[in-house]
Amino acid sequence: MEFEIALYPGDGIGPDVLEQAVRVMHQVGERHGITFKTKTLPWGYEYWKQHGTVVPEGFLDEIREVDSILLGAVGWPDEIPDHETLAPLVKIRQAFDQFACVRPANLFTGLESVLAGRTSAEIDFVVIRENSEGEYIDNGGRFKKGTPDEVAVQTAVHTRKGVERIIRFAFDTARKRRKKLTMATKSNAQKYSYVMWDDILEELKPEYPDVEAERMHCDAAVMNLVRWPDHFDVIVASNLFGDLLTDLGGILGGGLGLAPSSNENPTREFPSMFEPVHGSAPDIAGKGIANPVAAILSLAMMLDHLQCDGAAQNVCTAVEAALAAGAKTPDLGGELTTVEMGDAVLACL
Ligand code: NAI
Ligand code: MG
Repeated sequence: MEFEIALYPGDGIGPDVLEQAVRVMHQVGERHGITFKTKTLPWGYEYWKQHGTVVPEGFLDEIREVDSILLGAVGWPDEIPDHETLAPLVKIRQAFDQFACVRPANLFTGLESVLAGRTSAEIDFVVIRENSEGEYIDNGGRFKKGTPDEVAVQTAVHTRKGVERIIRFAFDTARKRRKKLTMATKSNAQKYSYVMWDDILEELKPEYPDVEAERMHCDAAVMNLVRWPDHFDVIVASNLFGDLLTDLGGILGGGLGLAPSSNENPTREFPSMFEPVHGSAPDIAGKGIANPVAAILSLAMMLDHLQCDGAAQNVCTAVEAALAAGAKTPDLGGELTTVEMGDAVLACL
C-alpha cells in the first residue's frame, strides 16, 4: 500500500510536533507494509517573509490530489494577523468539503483530568462538529456603524443536506463505538434551525436501530459533561456548539498537548486534513518542549481514515503505553523534550 501525504508544518511548535508524527508514521508504515510518500509545504510565516503571502497562489492545486494532509499548526501573531495565517486552513476545509470535524476526548491511564477522581474509563467520548455551515457562514452586516442606532445582523445557515450528512456521520461513528449518540442543540430557544435538526434526527433514527440516540440542549450538555462525563459516547453538534464542546472535551481529556482532530471529507472525493487542536504556541516555540502527542494522535486518526486500522491502533496503543510508563513533557508535569517524547512513543510501537 502506498499513500501520498502533504505535510504542512506551519509555524512555531508546528514543525517540531509534526516531525515526531512523521517519524512515527514511517516506522508504523514499515511494520504494516505501508509506504508514505511525503510532500512538504513550506507555507506560513517563513514563506510570507520571502513572498509576502503565507501560501502561493493556486495552493489548493498543490494538495488536491494527495491522499491526506497532516498539519502541525499555523500562526505567528506578533508578525502577521491571525486571519491571514489561518485563512488557508479555512479555504482548505471549504474547498475540500471537509464537513466533519472530529475531536476525541479520552483521558489516558496515568494522567489526571481537571475533573477530580475521574479515570480513563469515565472520560472517553468524541465530539463531531459540523464544519461547513451553520453559525460560521459569512452572512450579515453592520448598519449605522458606530452610532447609537447601530444594528448588527448575522444569520446562521443550516441546510437539510448539511445537517443530514453530519448526523449520519455521527450515527456511523457511534456504530463503531459504544452505540450511543447525543445531539446537542438549542431547539427550545431557536425554533427554526435546531427544530429542523431535531426533525432530521427523528427521521434518521429508524435507519440506526442499534444506536441509542438522544437529544440534549447544549447548555445541559455542558453541565452534564462535567458532572457525568461517562454518560457520553458520541456527541454531534452544529458548528458553533461543536466549537464550544470540543474545547471542553480537550481539557477534560487531559489538555491541549494531547488533543487530536480531523477535518474530514467522508465521501473521500477530496483529501481530509488532520491536525492537533492546539495552535503554534509562540510562548514555548523554539524551546523543544512542545508535547508531540496531539500531533501523533492526529496521525492515528489519519491512518484510520485511510483504512489502515491496524496501524492506527498500533499508534494509539504506543502512545497509551508511553504515557502509562510515565513519559511526560512539561505540560503534563514531566521533563521530556519533544524529541524524547517522540522517542518514547517510537520505543513502544
Ligand atoms: P495555542 O494552542 O498555540 O497555545 C495555548 C497554550 O497551550 C499555550 O500556553 C501553549 O504553550 C500551550 N500549548 C499548546 N500546544 C501545546 C503542546 N503541544 N505542548 C505543550 N503546550 C502546548 O493557542 P494560542 O496561544 O491562543 O495561539 C497561538 C497561535 O496559534 C495563534 O496565532 C493562533 O491563531 C494559532 N492557532 C492555530 C491553530 C491551528 O493551526 N489550527 C489552532 C489554534 C490557534
Ligand atoms: Mg475553538
